[in-house]
Amino acid sequence: MDTHKIPVITIDGPSASGKGTIAQLVAKKLGFHYLDSGALYRLVALKTMRSHADTHNTDQLAEIARNLNVVFVNEDIYLDGTIVTDDIRAEQCGILASQIAAHPQVREALTERQRAFCQPPGLVTDGRDMGSVIFPNAVLKIFLTASAEVRAQRRYKQLIEKGMSDNIANLLQDIQKRDERDSNRNIAPLQHRADAQLLDTTSLTISQAQDAVLSWYNEIYAKNPSLDMK
Ligand code: DC
Repeated sequence: MDTHKIPVITIDGPSASGKGTIAQLVAKKLGFHYLDSGALYRLVALKTMRSHADTHNTDQLAEIARNLNVVFVNEDIYLDGTIVTDDIRAEQCGILASQIAAHPQVREALTERQRAFCQPPGLVTDGRDMGSVIFPNAVLKIFLTASAEVRAQRRYKQLIEKGMSDNIANLLQDIQKRDERDSNRNIAPLQHRADAQLLDTTSLTISQAQDAVLSWYNEIYAKNPSLDMK
C-alpha cells in the first residue's frame, strides 16, 4: 500500500498539553485511526518495571520495546493479555517512559510499530516526534502546547478522576523536568518546528482546540480533495 497517499495529522507537544484528548476527538470526527505514541513508551516503561529489568541497560530496553506484546482494543490497552489502560498513566510510568525514550535503540525499535498505524482512511497521531521523524510526510503537523501551570492542573484533574492522588506542586515539578528532558535529548527532541502549526491551548476549551485542528485540516482538504480515502 502506498502510505504516502494516506492523510496523516500529527499532533506533537509537551506532557499533559491535551494533545491526546484533541487527537482522539479529531480522529473520531474524521473517522480516522488514532495512535497514542506516548502509550508505547509508557508500555515499555511498565514492562521494564514489572520485569525488574535494568533501566540503564539499553540492549535490554530495546529488546523489551521490540517484543512488546500489546493489543489496542477501542480505548483499552492490553499488555501480555492484561488490561493496563490506567496503569500506564501513573506519573512514575510517565517519568520512566521519558527516560527510556532518550535511548536511540528504543526509539528505533518502536518506529515500524508506529508507522503500521498509517492505514486508510487516515491517521491522527500524538507524541513528540510524530511530524519530525515518524510521519515526515504528514499533511498537517501541529505543535500543541499550554503553560506548564495549566498542564499541571489538567494532569491533577485527570489523576483524581482515575482515583490516583498527587499534589499540584509535585506535578508541576515533574512536568517541568519532563519538558526539559524531552526537549533537550539528542535524538528526536520535542521542538516546535517551522512546518508545524502552533496551537496554544492555555486559554482554549477542548472544543475550541478541536475546531482549530479541523479547520486547518479542512483548508488543506479543500485544496487537495484527493486526500479523501473513503
Ligand atoms: O505523551 P506521554 O506523556 O504519554 O509520553 C510519555 C513519554 O514518552 C514522554 O515524556 C516522552 C516519551 N515520548 C517520546 O519520546 N516520543 C513520543 N513520540 C511520545 C512519547
